[in-house]
Amino acid sequence: MAQKVTVSVIKADVGSVCGHTRPHPDMMAKCDEMLKEGVMQGILEDYYVTRVGDDINLFMTHYKGENNKDVHKLAWDAFYEAAQLARKMHLYGAGQDLLADSFSGNIKGAGPGSAEMEFEERKSEPIMFFMADKTEPSAYSLPLSKIFLDPFTTTGLVIDARAKKGFDVEIHDVMDHKKVIMSAPEETLSILSLLGDTSRYAIKRVFSRAGLGTAAVVSTDKLNLTAGKYVGKDDPVCVVRAQSGMPSVGEYLQPFMNTMLVAGWMRGSHYGAFYPCSPEDSTPTYFDGPPRVCCLGFQLVDGHLQGLEPMGSAPGVHVPVDYFKGAEWDYVRNNAVKASKFMRTHGSFMPAVLGPEEMEYTSRPEVLKELTKRMENLD
Ligand code: F6R
Ligand code: MG
Ligand code: MG
Repeated sequence: MAQKVTVSVIKADVGSVCGHTRPHPDMMAKCDEMLKEGVMQGILEDYYVTRVGDDINLFMTHYKGENNKDVHKLAWDAFYEAAQLARKMHLYGAGQDLLADSFSGNIKGAGPGSAEMEFEERKSEPIMFFMADKTEPSAYSLPLSKIFLDPFTTTGLVIDARAKKGFDVEIHDVMDHKKVIMSAPEETLSILSLLGDTSRYAIKRVFSRAGLGTAAVVSTDKLNLTAGKYVGKDDPVCVVRAQSGMPSVGEYLQPFMNTMLVAGWMRGSHYGAFYPCSPEDSTPTYFDGPPRVCCLGFQLVDGHLQGLEPMGSAPGVHVPVDYFKGAEWDYVRNNAVKASKFMRTHGSFMPAVLGPEEMEYTSRPEVLKELTKRMENLD
């Protein structure tokens, strides 16, 4: 059997220039330097350092499997060094997502978010990386449901024999740390009955039922729950494999042409509309948003990433396909600003702000603590 390759994305917000905006270029360069070293040491095959808003995203390929200590430590060390630079420059939120004092074997629960998948590389293996800022992991549940469960979205579910076999969906209860795997199309309605509650349930993985392995994986780390207090939303990544029995690239992208409200945005406390864009255009501006989503595409070639850069470029040197850069997405960008502006007319009133259960993890309870003392019983 062929050796399985692993694609790992580990991401963290370890500081920004002037608010929760974007990391300093020196921080990105430091991560690049660290991962290059990781290739020299034989930990990684290849990598790409990018960002969405204030989050640095490390895309890594290797043959060490998921949850590998060396890979996780490399990412931790890169973020640690980037945070040190952020501290030196007195950047905002320096070291924010590094919740643990030191690395203890696995990045999970230590602050950074991670999404990893191990699979047998196909002859041609198109991989897409979605990255979002100012929102939460369940933000991908609606588009992924459309992609894998809805034949009116993915025509492949109807006319591609392998896609028609369906997909298994692993759903996580991010509050109570539970999971369930359900099968589509048979259990589609039950799957949706869980996923509709985006405050608790999120898609973690999707598996092909045609024997092609993992189709999609999402980082479902709930940073605010890990820390017990609000330390930024758990801005999520999602990695997917496309074509030849999986949804096509275009089927993956299509749902993002709809205007979707997602939780997060300002202070992790508001609903705003997903704004698809290029990483270059992902710096939050309007009310610390609106929540951005980017999508970058590569081919995987013997464990290495191939984008538009010259063939045989050094590891780390890549030019991915930037799917949301083009003018056709202006339509949904304009709608996203309109929808977000509409939500803002409600100020701090629901449904512009999240429900009280989710506001538990923001800075609101501290304000309420003072006020509850003043509440008197009604006669
Ligand atoms: C949301 C986010 C920002 C901050 C906001 C307040 O994920 O990062 O919207 O929540 O700018 O930030 P602090 O509390 O650091 O002043
Ligand atoms: Mg931040
Ligand atoms: Mg962020």
